Amino acid sequence: MPLAYQSGFGNEFASEAIPGTLPAGRNSPQRVAHGLYAEQVSGSAFTAPRHLNRRTWTYRIRPGALHGAFAPQLPGRFHNRFAEVPPTPNQLRWDPFPLPEAPTDFLDGLLTLAGNGGPDAQCGIGVHAYAANADMRERFFYDADGELLLVPQQGRLRIHTELGVLEVEPQEIAVLPRGIRWRIELPDGAARGYVAENFGAPLRLPELGPIGANGLANPRDFLAPVAAYEDTEGDFELIAKFQGGLWSARIGHSPLDVVGWHGNHVPYKYDLRRFNTIGSISYDHPDPSIFTVLTSASDTPGTANLDFVIFPPRWLAGEDTFRPPWFHRNVASEFMGLVHGVYDAKAGGFSPGGASLHNCMSGHGPDAATFDKASSADTSRPEKVADTMAFMFETRMVLRPTRQAMDASQLQRDYAECWQGLRRNFQPPR
Ligand SMILES: [Fe+2]
Repeated sequence: MPLAYQSGFGNEFASEAIPGTLPAGRNSPQRVAHGLYAEQVSGSAFTAPRHLNRRTWTYRIRPGALHGAFAPQLPGRFHNRFAEVPPTPNQLRWDPFPLPEAPTDFLDGLLTLAGNGGPDAQCGIGVHAYAANADMRERFFYDADGELLLVPQQGRLRIHTELGVLEVEPQEIAVLPRGIRWRIELPDGAARGYVAENFGAPLRLPELGPIGANGLANPRDFLAPVAAYEDTEGDFELIAKFQGGLWSARIGHSPLDVVGWHGNHVPYKYDLRRFNTIGSISYDHPDPSIFTVLTSASDTPGTANLDFVIFPPRWLAGEDTFRPPWFHRNVASEFMGLVHGVYDAKAGGFSPGGASLHNCMSGHGPDAATFDKASSADTSRPEKVADTMAFMFETRMVLRPTRQAMDASQLQRDYAECWQGLRRNFQPPR
């Protein structure tokens, strides 16, 4: 049976799995219907401005406080240690990370590639890849350090959260808010993709400015779950990510036991194929900010802590224009991944499931083969980039790769060779 969702972005959603659960007229009545507990989850400061304020009231079988003591886990592959190796100005690219052979669930399948800032400063991001082949059944997770933006590249994710169930497939994304508990099952048996862990302000839709009231990602295409609770008991594990480390506690029941809830601190999903791509219909093409799906603001206006940007199928119509992404150097740092198809700035070497990192002011752009082709292309007719879905996590601070990312056998030690064939074409007048 297909899952039910509620449509909208940042709305005050409400849902109850049993009719009559949500209290009318107050958030915490003396006694909640059906013998439930009331608990608020705050995703912003209590006093945040109204348009930025986030909280959800949950009505649940047991309160969130009921579990054993947390004990620290040994450091693993999922972490926020961003100072292990010196950051490099070299352009970096990785082949796809392999699927595991031993049983590995989503949480154990996370591999941290890079990051900046940190959870203590409440700014910056962590960049992770995941590759998994087993369901999370008797363990549950929450991230106190940030919200998680999941970008599946292979295999669906069925995400059971406190507020209901989301299912996402490649070319869709899911956002799991800070603190909300969840477990993930893999309906297709194996799954691979990317995660941005956002330590800063929650992701929201970008402003549209002169574009007007519609365009880019439209609010109604964002889907939040409906209430669905688990009433199960057993010897389960609750794992918390707290200040970069993982902590484990025993818990005697599923913490996904919310029978009804209302609020706007919610998980949600979005189908990237619904993105209304906007571009030039005369010449040149705009900066890639025109492809922003979601943005996390920093303290500096217009300068994002994290922009989630996609390069979806689109028409290229710029006349007398170099149509692929131009050569550039950027004060911001760019981590890219490829979900599907081919990326139009590279003739090869950037495969679905692979990744690249171009840090602050590191030159990059089309490889030699792409430059030659685009420089002689007929631009009198539009051309469709049809079979593609690439994305970028762009962030204001340098992304510092982890040791495991730099030591990985997937790191392409010869990546910079792709530009070495760019010839000198300069012909000064004599
Ligand atoms: Fe770039």
